Amino acid sequence: MGTHIILIGFMGAGKTTVGKALAKALDRPLFDTDKLIEEQAAMSISRIFEVYGEERFRSLETETIRNMVSAQGSWVLSVGGGLPLRKENRKLLKQAGCVIYLRVQPGTVLNRLRGDTTRPLLSGGDVKERVEKLLSDRSPVYEEAAHITVDVDGKRPEEIAEEILRKSTGSSIQDKSRDSL
Ligand code: S3P
Repeated sequence: MGTHIILIGFMGAGKTTVGKALAKALDRPLFDTDKLIEEQAAMSISRIFEVYGEERFRSLETETIRNMVSAQGSWVLSVGGGLPLRKENRKLLKQAGCVIYLRVQPGTVLNRLRGDTTRPLLSGGDVKERVEKLLSDRSPVYEEAAHITVDVDGKRPEEIAEEILRKSTGSSIQDKSRDSL
């Protein structure tokens, strides 16, 4: 296993905020696949979906993690909620480092993403139904993709980061003190 830390999970699970807490605690840079793709394409994720479609977006995700895996240093990476759906991506992530699944309940997702307009997969129609269906379809995939699973509902990002560090004791990500959390 590589030394990087990768956060996976559904939209609204808190991958970016937990990633920030972990990156701070471990003094590592934080990357986010959605941000990298938006910068590279000079376009928002919604616009990429609109103009090129979901499949093209998924290929951009694969390209992005391929590039990240060959990048220098040890980093924390938060990945888009659908990125682990491709088997090839799951393999790349598992080789790159410790993959952590932030498991979230549908109610938390709905509370956090109420009024959100940046996620094309949740726009329009019955959002509750869509979240429940996508979450139940994807849960086994997330479980399979991860080395460690952490439940996030009702916890602060720092608490979750602390739990991740505790659960990963002995793994290669433990190269910095956890006192800074
Ligand atoms: C997606 C999740 C989004 C973004 C895109 C598709 C998904 O990222 O990549 O809208 O398929 O779950 P977040 O998980 O960061 O919201």
